Amino acid sequence: MICYPLWYTMLPMNIERPDTSLGNTPTEDHKMGTTLTQEELEDRVDTLLETAPSDELYKQWSTQIATLPLKDQVRTLEDLHQRRRDALASVLPENVPITRGVPDEFVQLLKETLRNARELGRGDNGYVLADPDNHNMAYKFLLRPPIGQQNSLVEEASMQARIREIALQYADARVGVPRLDYFSTDPRTSFIAMERLDAVSVRDVIEGRAALPEGTNIDTAFDGLKRFLKDLNEAHGLYHLDVRAGNIMLPRNPSANNNLPLVYLIDMGMAKTKREVRSVMVIEDGTLTPKIDRVSDCGSVDIVRKRLKNNSES
Ligand SMILES: Nc1ncnc2c1ncn2[C@@H]1O[C@H](COP(=O)(O)OP(=O)(O)O)[C@@H](O)[C@H]1O
Ligand SMILES: [Mg+2]
Repeated sequence: MICYPLWYTMLPMNIERPDTSLGNTPTEDHKMGTTLTQEELEDRVDTLLETAPSDELYKQWSTQIATLPLKDQVRTLEDLHQRRRDALASVLPENVPITRGVPDEFVQLLKETLRNARELGRGDNGYVLADPDNHNMAYKFLLRPPIGQQNSLVEEASMQARIREIALQYADARVGVPRLDYFSTDPRTSFIAMERLDAVSVRDVIEGRAALPEGTNIDTAFDGLKRFLKDLNEAHGLYHLDVRAGNIMLPRNPSANNNLPLVYLIDMGMAKTKREVRSVMVIEDGTLTPKIDRVSDCGSVDIVRKRLKNNSES
């Protein structure tokens, strides 16, 4: 079942409904060839570049086509978009309610709504705002350019959806990942709309901005997270790669209900597949070593746990 976000049903009739199938871009149905005027070709190139999935790709694609004749620029860009769509289709899980191509009118409306919105938190690469009208929604905006290493928004959103699907299968580890609702890759306003967690980050607890929620059992929560990450790495070939205090959250009201999360894993801004990690090499003691032999999401859980425990005991 495809779930539509609320705005979808609120759109006035004259706004084109976004296609929820994967990979629809304005290039679809476009007939290349001799029929386009010079001006139309130029417009086409502009549109294709503006809809590049990230600033980085925008720059890369612009450079790539710079010396080509106009017609070849269009063809090359369409091809790059198509390849991107194909790649995306293979990574986005089925049945995940992702909608792309959020209409401009909606983005404007949202910006207006969020003008005085409360900030829920901030990291190296983004900040998260609470929806003032909808208690269950939060929006993550990426800083441009990001300060730290960062996946593109599409990669981040797709990793969040994938890792959430897996977390839902491991009910007894009781790890939650915020539900991903939709995202916009609008070049001016890119954001991820997701479930707002009623939780505090471990970082806020350690740094004294929030209290450790009453009833938290640190070991039970962190053991579950560790089991989950071990399987995520080993059985599913996915790596979070940024497990730290700011990216782990604890529910404000840890529930006795056995199905609810005791800990949340957020921020898939660095998450990678095994294949991607495998190709990265690091220099260690003067020798080139595959990074995959050195990364461990589980190891990071223990470091955060120790810091939290030291802090809570003092
Ligand atoms: N879904 C959410 N609900 C509530 N708070 C959140 C949510 N996602 C993130 N936060 C808060 O925002 C902070 C920054 O989010 P994060 O995704 O880690 O951004 P960054 O990529 O910049 O590190 C988190 O440390 C947390 O405090
Ligand atoms: Mg973070």
